Amino acid sequence: MSFWQRLRRRMALYKPKRFKDHHHYAAFFDARHVVLAGDDMAVLEYPNEEVQQKIFRHAAEKFDLTDRAILDVGCGLGYFKKYLDAQQARYGSYRGVDLSAKMVAGAVKRFGPHFEQRDVLAKPFSENEFDLVFLLSVLGYPVGETPFGYMSALLKELHRIGREGLVFTHLAPGRREESSDFTVVPEAMAQWCREYLSPQVVLDDTLGLVTYVMAVRKGEK
Ligand SMILES: C[S@@+](CC[C@H](N)C(=O)[O-])C[C@H]1O[C@@H](n2cnc3c(N)ncnc32)[C@H](O)[C@@H]1O
Repeated sequence: MSFWQRLRRRMALYKPKRFKDHHHYAAFFDARHVVLAGDDMAVLEYPNEEVQQKIFRHAAEKFDLTDRAILDVGCGLGYFKKYLDAQQARYGSYRGVDLSAKMVAGAVKRFGPHFEQRDVLAKPFSENEFDLVFLLSVLGYPVGETPFGYMSALLKELHRIGREGLVFTHLAPGRREESSDFTVVPEAMAQWCREYLSPQVVLDDTLGLVTYVMAVRKGEK
């Protein structure tokens, strides 16, 4: 095995135990995009595209997408758009944003000019600017001094900008041996959503993965 192959393998396995902030998290994906170039699923930390598609399917089916304006936060290399188009989802518009410049450039190269580099916390969208907001395979690493606080702020902000609702994924504890995992018990996550976002919450933990899907429909708190 060449030095380059060994480096790639090591990089694919390397998982920091914590990120100082979300910019450091994005820099990690910038680096993966360079070192693991040529293997998109490795860059994105999926074992394969089937697992990615399964997560997308469970997320996308939570709402009627017809004519909806979709925001995909942490879009990575743009595969959710690819998935929606392959399913012939009749959404109204799609916009992907990511903190990582390299991931955005990769998404544009693969799937067209639907993606932009943007920090949604520093440069917020307007209230209800989109119909549906997706945050897929983004939560799952500890970010900042208080990872739960960072996650809460991000979810509240994304809920604010989605007129109809928010769909996100998270990791459940106890399902794999990775010390870098930031996990939240699914039912506890659902309870937090009911308390701070909306009472209309659907928890989908039927994927058979470490990942579960949460759909929050906007309504009275
Ligand atoms: C594992 S990738 C998932 C990409 C894509 N959602 C998918 O499932 O293929 C996580 C992505 O989230 C991005 N990210 C992390 N925190 C973010 C934030 N606060 N805002 C936007 N993007 C973020 C990272 O830069 C990275 O590209």
